[in-house]
Amino acid sequence: MPSILPTPLRLGAHVLPNNLFVAPMAGVTDRPFRMLCKRLGAGYAVSEMVTSRKDLWNSLKTSRRANHEGETAPIAVQIAGTEAQMMAEAAVYNIQRGAQIIDINMGCPAKKVCNKWAGSALMQNEPLAQEIVRAVVEACRPFDVPVTLKMRTGWSAEARNALVLARMAEDAGIAMLTIHGRTREQGYKGLAEYDTLRSVKAAVGIPVVANGDIDSPEKALQVLQHTGADALMVGRAAQGRPWIFREIAHFLATGEQLPAPRVLEARDWLLEHLQDHYSLYGSDSGMRSARKHIAWAVKALPGGEDFRQAMNRLDSCEAQVRALSDWFAALADQHERLPYLPPALDAANDDDAEEQRLSA
Ligand SMILES: Cc1cc2nc3c(=O)[nH]c(=O)nc-3n(C[C@H](O)[C@H](O)[C@H](O)COP(=O)(O)O)c2cc1C
Repeated sequence: MPSILPTPLRLGAHVLPNNLFVAPMAGVTDRPFRMLCKRLGAGYAVSEMVTSRKDLWNSLKTSRRANHEGETAPIAVQIAGTEAQMMAEAAVYNIQRGAQIIDINMGCPAKKVCNKWAGSALMQNEPLAQEIVRAVVEACRPFDVPVTLKMRTGWSAEARNALVLARMAEDAGIAMLTIHGRTREQGYKGLAEYDTLRSVKAAVGIPVVANGDIDSPEKALQVLQHTGADALMVGRAAQGRPWIFREIAHFLATGEQLPAPRVLEARDWLLEHLQDHYSLYGSDSGMRSARKHIAWAVKALPGGEDFRQAMNRLDSCEAQVRALSDWFAALADQHERLPYLPPALDAANDDDAEEQRLSA
C-alpha cells in the first residue's frame, strides 16, 4: 500500500520530519514529554501555553515553560492572551528565548483563560482576534519566525465561525492552522466533528492540521481521509502512550499495525522520561508531577490501577523508579509485549479537569 501521509510540511526555514504532531497540553507536554514523543515518532510538538502577562514571566512555571535546552528543533511556543500589544511582546520574548515558531492559542476552553478573553473566547470577538493575529505576525516578521494558530470550530454550534477566522488568519499571514473539531461550548464533551475541518481545508491555501479524538492508527487514517488535512495532531491519546505516533506513522505508510512495544522497551522509555522529568522539576516536585505520567502509562495494563494507588503513596524519586522497574519486570515475565488496551478518552472530559491541570 502506498503511503498516504501528506508530503512533509515546511514552516519557514523548517521542514518537519513528518506530519504527526503532539498537541500542546498544559501540565502534560512539558519539554521532557515533548522530547519523548518526538523520539517515538512525533514530527512536531508545541509547548504548553505561555501567558502574555509580563508579571508572570519570571514565575517558576513560566520560566520552566520557556526553557528549551536540548530540545529538538523546531521549537514552537504557544502564547495566550487578550491584548494585541502584549501578545506581540510575548512572541518576541519567547523568540529571544529560543522559539522558532510562535503559535497563538485560540482554542483553550478553560474558564481561567476565557474569563480574561483569551483562548477560545477570542473566537467570539473576530475584530480582536484579527488585531491579535496581525500584531503577532508583524512582531515575528523581522525574526523570520512563522506564526501559527490553534482554534476550535467555533464558540458554539450556532456560532461555528472557524471558516471566517481561517480566511482572516490566512490573509493576516498565518503559516498553519490547527483545528480541534469541537466548539468552545462543548469543552471536551461529545465527539469531535471533522466536516468543519474539511470545509476549512478546502477554503484556505495554508496547511491545516486536524485535531480531536484521534486515538488509534485507524482513526488517524479516517480523519486524514475525511478532512484532507495536511497533518494530524494527537493529544490525550498520547498520554501514557507516546509511541502512538510511530504506530500511526507505520499504519499510514504500510496499512499494517505495528506490534505493541516490548514491555522492557516501554519500561526503558518511561525510566528515561522520569529522569528527564526529575531533572526539570527537581526531586520533590518532580516526584509528585511524575505520578500522572506513570498512572497514564499503566492505566490500560493488567494490574495498573492497583499499582497506581501503591505508587501514589511513595515519596521519593528512588522509590518511584524502583517500583516502576519492578512492576514492569514482573509484567515482562508474563508478556513479551505490552498487553494494553487503548486508553479511554475520559481523563480530561470536562472544563474543570483541564482547568485543574492548567493551574497545576
Ligand atoms: C490537559 C490538557 C491541557 C491542554 N492544554 C492546552 C493548551 O495549553 N493549549 C492548547 O491550545 N490546547 C490545549 N489543550 C487542548 C489539546 O491541545 C487538544 O486540542 C485537545 O485535547 C483535543 O485533542 P485530543 O482529542 O487528541 O486530546 C489541552 C488539553 C488537555 C487535555
